[in-house]
Amino acid sequence: MRHETALALGRLPAGTKVRRTSSDPGRAVLTGFVGGPAPLDDWEKFDIPGLRGIGKTAPYFHNNSAATLEEVVEHYKQFYKRVAIQAPQAPLLTTQPGVTPPVIDRPFTDAEVPALLAYLRRL
Ligand code: HEM
Repeated sequence: MRHETALALGRLPAGTKVRRTSSDPGRAVLTGFVGGPAPLDDWEKFDIPGLRGIGKTAPYFHNNSAATLEEVVEHYKQFYKRVAIQAPQAPLLTTQPGVTPPVIDRPFTDAEVPALLAYLRRL
């Protein structure tokens, strides 16, 4: 359970100090917004670019953790596997009104990977 949830539920005594650690605190480093009510919490928040021209802008993700689009696709293959295990009840459409993530779109199949890569390279 996240510490702030435990605090909200009163399971930690009021006034308890919670030490948060992260290898990647995101925008909070710039704004100092940590632990406030939304939108005053920038902990591990990132501004996300669009995908136009993605074939020419390697490496990928905010920490350059994927060197190629093949690695990006592998990342999402593992991501969808994780979601299927951790949130099997998640609805199939990210666009469903009132539904908050995590949600799962239909995962792509291995046979679809070449087409997915070709599509990404045309954006
Ligand atoms: C087949 C499905 C997907 C593909 C091909 C895809 C593709 C990509 C690519 C190429 C990037 C890198 C952008 C860049 O570095 O300039 C990216 C970033 C991102 N995508 Fe996806 N995406 C997919 C699914 C999803 C899903 C399901 C989510 C949310 C649940 C998501 C959320 C994000 C986020 C938050 C980033 C930024 C991550 C970062 O910078 O570290 N994507 N995506």
